[in-house]
Amino acid sequence: MSAAILDAAAPSGRPVPAPGEPGFALYVHWPFCLSKCPYCDFNSHVRERVDGARWQRAYLKELEQAAAETPGRTLTSIFFGGGTPSLMPPEAAAAIVERARALWPAAPDIEITLEANPGASEAARFRAFREAGVNRLSIGVQSLDDAALEFLGRKHSAAEAMAAVERAAAVFDRFSFDLIYARPGHMVAAWEDELERALAFAGEHLSVYQLTIEPGTAFHTAHGRGDFALPDQDTAADLYEATRARLGAAGLHSYEISNHARPGAESRHNLTYWRYGDYLGLGPGAHGRLTLGGAKFATRRHRAPEIWLERVEREATAETERTLLAPEERGREMLLMGLRLAEGVDRARFTAEAGAPIEAFVDGAAARCLADAGLIAWTPEAFRATDAGRQRLDAVLKALVG
Ligand SMILES: C[S@@+](CC[C@H](N)C(=O)[O-])C[C@H]1O[C@@H](n2cnc3c(N)ncnc32)[C@H](O)[C@@H]1O
Ligand code: SF4
Repeated sequence: MSAAILDAAAPSGRPVPAPGEPGFALYVHWPFCLSKCPYCDFNSHVRERVDGARWQRAYLKELEQAAAETPGRTLTSIFFGGGTPSLMPPEAAAAIVERARALWPAAPDIEITLEANPGASEAARFRAFREAGVNRLSIGVQSLDDAALEFLGRKHSAAEAMAAVERAAAVFDRFSFDLIYARPGHMVAAWEDELERALAFAGEHLSVYQLTIEPGTAFHTAHGRGDFALPDQDTAADLYEATRARLGAAGLHSYEISNHARPGAESRHNLTYWRYGDYLGLGPGAHGRLTLGGAKFATRRHRAPEIWLERVEREATAETERTLLAPEERGREMLLMGLRLAEGVDRARFTAEAGAPIEAFVDGAAARCLADAGLIAWTPEAFRATDAGRQRLDAVLKALVG
């Protein structure tokens, strides 16, 4: 770990990764859920039975294979995502954490997060996951309104979600939960009320996502049929602004478009993505970004759970794609990720990554216009989208890089 990481101590006493310090992260994808939510296009599947021991062996195999390529890197985070990884046997999580710690040096404050569903979250399992080495929980609450939960196809009630958050708070020092806003008919006053209730249960971190309609989901069909309508752009912008203002006033600053945290409590794992650091992605459909000998590669594993499993058993990895990223692509990806962050893109790291400064990548006239309109800002160290710019980031990026 570099001195830069250790120097800046958070108020909580935890070291904060300094801007520009991307870390080296491990993502493990558990692709199973108890049911499929109608809005969700994640690689998640419902199965009657999953052979946990067999899956554990396969993850360990892929882990060994990935470690052989990246010896000596200091692991700064592990993230069990899904799907619903709180359904995985805690022993499997324990074995993966233990093997990862044996294969790489780990940062002293390594962050190990597990995503949990309120429905699959008995306290006993939380404790087992903590004993497995997990030190941060991220819970899919989605809403504190029972009618909204029903619309979202969730199997839990608001009361159950709050009970799960309370149990998480009793077991973990660090936890976060997810909420979804801009639901049909969603009004600012009702959302502010819901945020108020959420804040009463919140810890150091909240993820608040705007509902999006993804191709291939049940919502895509229903929305296309006219079964429901989403709030218009102005209402969505008001809801976003209300989120930022209310959570900010409570001390949870908006450090990324959808993520809010107390200073020092940002998700270190997700910062690695947004700062365009290296991460290994293991498990069905997982993506990775890997720098080897100065070249950067995008990797991807086979998406179908059973095919992934069989391929790993046969070949030690189910990597299906390894694409060399040209410097222009590296620059583009780094801008797309980094402008999501309040801190923006570190200019020195950008030049090192893309082989040329940011100015060479963006449309100069558009950048001047956006800066005049208060949507982007340059400092000697960083290039960033302002609060207003992040609220309409798609349009800002389109103007900057097409
Ligand atoms: C992999 S899921 C979280 C873990 C767990 N499976 C759960 O649902 O409780 C990641 C999060 O992405 C968000 N999400 C997924 N699809 C979304 C969509 N179409 N619009 C907005 N948020 C979405 C949800 O808040 C969800 O909790
Ligand atoms: S939102 Fe979570 S529980 Fe629902 S289908 Fe997606 S991954 Fe599974």
